[in-house]
Amino acid sequence: MSVPFDESAIPGRHTITYRIRDSHRGFPVRDVDVLATPEEIRALVRDGFLVRERLLPMAEVERLRAALDETMARDDRLETKGGKAFGGVFIRHLMDKHPAFLEMRDFPPTLSVARAVFGPSVQVRGFTGRVCYPDDPNQETEWHFHQRVVPDPLPPSFAPPQTLDVLLYLDDIDDRNGPLCVVPGSHTWTGRDLDRNEFDDKPGQVVLRLPAGSCVLAYGSLWHRALPTRPGGTLRRLLLFGYGPAWMKPSIYGERPKDGLTARLLQSPDADEETRELLGVSGYM
Ligand SMILES: [Fe+2]
Repeated sequence: MSVPFDESAIPGRHTITYRIRDSHRGFPVRDVDVLATPEEIRALVRDGFLVRERLLPMAEVERLRAALDETMARDDRLETKGGKAFGGVFIRHLMDKHPAFLEMRDFPPTLSVARAVFGPSVQVRGFTGRVCYPDDPNQETEWHFHQRVVPDPLPPSFAPPQTLDVLLYLDDIDDRNGPLCVVPGSHTWTGRDLDRNEFDDKPGQVVLRLPAGSCVLAYGSLWHRALPTRPGGTLRRLLLFGYGPAWMKPSIYGERPKDGLTARLLQSPDADEETRELLGVSGYM
């Protein structure tokens, strides 16, 4: 069912056994086979990101490229924000629009890491494609983070809205076509402002240049940006999906197709409890 990946891109794995403190359901136990080492999970929690270089074999990258191209060609709701930031074209709700993306809902290398940091009950919050074209001047993104709902002062029982986002690159990202830039540790900065239109280097920033098929898992609250494309750059296709606790609302972006693939799956006999949880209709109370 799930999308093939290259095991050698993952240095180790471990199992976490969660016992849920729910006496009404007999204290259910869930084992998670985490496709990362315990040290990697500690580093992810500390730094806010984890890189998997060449996770997808090229045949798989090519299959997903074709699926993305085909889905974009027949979509009538493509988004182009334009302006100085967030250039290129966005396509939302890909899991509803092509089976190749619906299959990624239980992609173990990313789902298991989300369950290692959030617990077993997570949902897929959204699935977006972004395509940047070499001649478009507006593909740089400003510094930003995703869950901008933190109040000041911070209430004592505030629940930080943590999400884990996956940036899966279908093309190389290097200095010519706009690598990703992050500030390690910034996902914990609930007491700091990040202004609009900031494009300058920040102390401690890390620039990630990666080959096609690589993915970056990053907390949604991590400060990040995409660097500008330069002459001679290439097409940059990126899949963006992410996870949050099952009780959190899904991503706000785009319009979910009414009779999309996820709705059909949920109505079919294949919709087991895990599928229902991943698609946001169970796993919370
Ligand atoms: Fe972002």
